Amino acid sequence: MPPHNISATQGKFLQIIAQMINTKAILEIGTLGAYSTIVLGRALQENGQIVSLEMNSEWVKVAQKNIAIAKLSNKVDIREGLALKSMVDLSKEGRTFDLIFIDANKDQNPDYLLAALQLSRKGTVIVADNVIREGAIIDETNSDQRIQGIRRFNDLVAQHPQLTATTLQTVGAKGYDGFTLALVK
Ligand code: DHB
Ligand code: MG
Repeated sequence: MPPHNISATQGKFLQIIAQMINTKAILEIGTLGAYSTIVLGRALQENGQIVSLEMNSEWVKVAQKNIAIAKLSNKVDIREGLALKSMVDLSKEGRTFDLIFIDANKDQNPDYLLAALQLSRKGTVIVADNVIREGAIIDETNSDQRIQGIRRFNDLVAQHPQLTATTLQTVGAKGYDGFTLALVK
């Protein structure tokens, strides 16, 4: 499993955001081993739920085990498969979320954002991880599709009429990176 989980201090940051807005419904795109799923699950209000999307079946198994150890199985719904497909399913179910955390395949970030908006209401907070990447995102000629995906994501957030947003740069256990924080108007 790649070491792509958020750090402890980043987790606390996300928990405080979740608690500030009294979240009862969180959507996470990219479960990996469920580190952030557990962090966010612990910040839910009473009877809250987190839906977490993961396409790698081995990681889903690890995540389920970790969630069980954290005694959060009753609050977590892991959906295995392509995130964009699961997000269409969630739309059809009429679901909306208070907080959406985007932390999966960076080349698909623009698509995740548009799908997230379909699952939002006025006041939904959308957070995306890894939007700075040691400053690599400043280089428009970078040939890495992940960097180009984040660049398109950042542009889309900046010009989207439904969003007001900022990017917070972070330095720590995960190196130099950052979060985009967007509020749905
Ligand atoms: C990568 C992905 C992440 O979500 C992260 O936090 C760090 C690195 C990556 O794909 O390289
Ligand atoms: Mg990440």
